[in-house]
Amino acid sequence: MESYKRMLLSNRAWIQERLTVDPTFFERLGQPQKPEVLWIGCSDSRVPPDEITGTNPGEIFVHRNIANLVVHTDLNLLSVLQYAVHHLGVRHVIVCGHYGCGGVKASLTRAELGLLNKWLRHIKDVYRNHRQELDLYSEERKVDRLVELNVLAQVQNLVHTSVVQEAWHKRQLPYIHGWVFGMNDGLIRELTTVAPNSPIDEVYRYDFHDEG
Ligand code: CO
Repeated sequence: MESYKRMLLSNRAWIQERLTVDPTFFERLGQPQKPEVLWIGCSDSRVPPDEITGTNPGEIFVHRNIANLVVHTDLNLLSVLQYAVHHLGVRHVIVCGHYGCGGVKASLTRAELGLLNKWLRHIKDVYRNHRQELDLYSEERKVDRLVELNVLAQVQNLVHTSVVQEAWHKRQLPYIHGWVFGMNDGLIRELTTVAPNSPIDEVYRYDFHDEG
């Protein structure tokens, strides 16, 4: 059977399963969403955020792109971030990378990939900033360590947005987390948590003034 047909059949089965457990499931699902978490993850099909975290519909607001990047000129990501932080009022933003990430791997090669070069360039910059450490490792270890360093860099990119800084100023939220998922064992490792109003490098810091 074609995979898209199987998806439609599975959807009908899923409805029945949900209704068996909770007959009011879809009434509740139709209510306005109030997720506490924004998830920024890789588009990789093997890293489904709700499945690996056991979360239900309504619990996490999701943005995914190749290699879970936070790029300051990415209107898509910035719109998701602004909506999640200022309108939904999420308490946590999680950047979740994964070991063996194809985007990170590709960034370490000299392959000419057209438009993708421009996207992966952001990871090459992370490599350049940590070249001394990374060049000590085997190829596989190098990719996995760069996956971690990339997540840490994207966490800092979030901290450097005016969206996050304004929310820290106004409501002492959100916390920013850096995680890595291991596909070989299913485990999510916590790399870092940045609490609201943590120190910010001077050059990236904005001033906010209370209104009125
Ligand atoms: Co990936």
